[in-house]
This record gives sequence, structure tokens and C-alpha cells, in this order.
Amino acid sequence: MTAQIIDGKVIAAKVREEVKAEVAKMVAAGKPAPGLATVLVGSRVDSATYVRSKQKACSELGIESYGHDLAEDVSQEEVEALVKQLSADPKVNGILVQLPLPSHLNEEAVLQSIALNKDVDGFHPVNIGRLAQKGREPMFVPCTPYGCIYLLEQAGVKIEGANAVVLGRSNIVGMPAALLLIGKNATVTVCHSRTRDLAGVVRTADILIAAIGKTEMVRGDWIKPGAAVIDVGINSKPDPTREKGYRLVGDVNYDEAKEVAGYITPVPGGVGPMTIAMLMKNTLRAAQIQNP
Ligand code: GUN
Repeated sequence: MTAQIIDGKVIAAKVREEVKAEVAKMVAAGKPAPGLATVLVGSRVDSATYVRSKQKACSELGIESYGHDLAEDVSQEEVEALVKQLSADPKVNGILVQLPLPSHLNEEAVLQSIALNKDVDGFHPVNIGRLAQKGREPMFVPCTPYGCIYLLEQAGVKIEGANAVVLGRSNIVGMPAALLLIGKNATVTVCHSRTRDLAGVVRTADILIAAIGKTEMVRGDWIKPGAAVIDVGINSKPDPTREKGYRLVGDVNYDEAKEVAGYITPVPGGVGPMTIAMLMKNTLRAAQIQNP
């Protein structure tokens, strides 16, 4: 079997077009354009690149972005004061604090100072708590897991009743992905570094979400025939044939897995483009809620 490739670039472009059209409609109706504030602390190159990409997406879709770049040694009080000021600013509909924060900062306290209705990343403890509880709805769902579920749904993969395995339990991807799958009535197993017989557990998965950050760790013979494989990993692998000397690969050995899976996301071009698309979708919704 050769898997159907789930093209995140195409699906993300469609989401972005939809957001752009809705933004244009809002502005034509005399409402303010949605606004997203980004808070970047320190000088991590990867975080700075992600934030610039988010700001670029805003400008392409007609969303205002307000960038706040803070020094590595900024105090807890200063970060919280900025987030509270943005929470009170009517031009700002969504607030994104890029993670991870430097280790001297209390991440939970910073996230808790974001106004709930501006928490477009869905990382506020109340939003995560609501995601974990039956009969409760978070205001916003974290963007990468939201993108994973969106890809499954667009591909027509049935989630209800499926055995889903989530590889990784991070606050940003693994844990919220597991909670979303439970909410959609999958039977969910969360695996991590201390899981016994990882390959055996992964072999039970009708749906696999791999978010463990280990280069091509999941081999083809770990995949159940016909399974849907969503690869969140972005790892660089040495490749002397490339100008840069490396290429990006996922947590799944793509060439092996695509011969066994029913559906698979490539890296790059799978989950990656969805994170920003879902952030744009969440920012639009924040603006619609705040300026009905
Ligand atoms: N760091 C890695 N992914 C994300 C994300 O989706 N949002 C934020 N705020 N930080 C991240």
C-alpha cells in the first residue's frame, strides 16, 4: 500500500484564504482589522524565525501585528506588565507569547496574565483546563494540535472510536493533542520516554501523532497497515547533497512509513504550515468575539 499524502501546504493555504476573505469582510463592514501582539523574549534564533513568520502571515491576511521583542534578562514583572497592558488594549485581539521563555521566567504566571478572550495560542491554564474537562469548551485550542486534527478531518479520517497513539506529552503539542482526540471520542494512549514496548504500542494505532522530537524514530514496521500518521517532528538531518548540509525530516521514517500507512503527512509541508494557519484562524475569531 502507498499512503495518501496529506498536503499541509494546500490545506493551510485554503485556511489562510478563508481567513483573508473574512478579514476583508470585517474591514468592509467598518470594523477594525484584527490585531495580533507577539511577545518574543531573548535571542533564540528558532523562536525569532517563528515569530517573524507569524507576523508575515498577519500582513498577508490583512491582520495588524504588534511586535514586542524583550531582552533575555527581562524581569518577570516587566513581562507580566506588558502582557496585562496588551490584554487591556482594544487594538490587540490576540496575544502570542512565544515559548519557550528563558528559564528565569515563570511561564505559567506569564500565560495566566493573558486575557482569556485573547489567548489565541490556547495555553492559558484555564483554556487547557477546559480542554481537559467533559462538557467544557476552551475559548481557543492550541494551534499545532488544532492543525493536526484539522488535517485528519480534511483527509476524511474517522476519529471517533479510533485507537489513537500520541508520541510525546509536551504542553504545546502532545498533551493538548491527546485531549482533543479524547474530546472527539478516540481511545487515546500517550507515550513518552519511559513507555515500555513503544513499537508495540504504536502498532495498535489507527491514528498516530508523532511529536517526540527524535529524528525518524518511528520505523515502517511500527505502523499498522492503513493507519493515519501525523508527523509533527521537525528535525535536521545531515545531508551532504544539500547546499546547507542538512535537510528537515520528521519523527517518522517517511519513506518506510508511506509504504504501510493509509495517510501520512510529509516533513516539511505537513503539520508545519498548519500552525500559523490555525493561529490566523484563532486571531480572526478573537476579533469577531471582541468586535461582534
Ligand atoms: N513554541 C513552539 N510552538 C509554539 C506555538 O505554537 N506557540 C507559541 N507561543 N510558542 C511556541
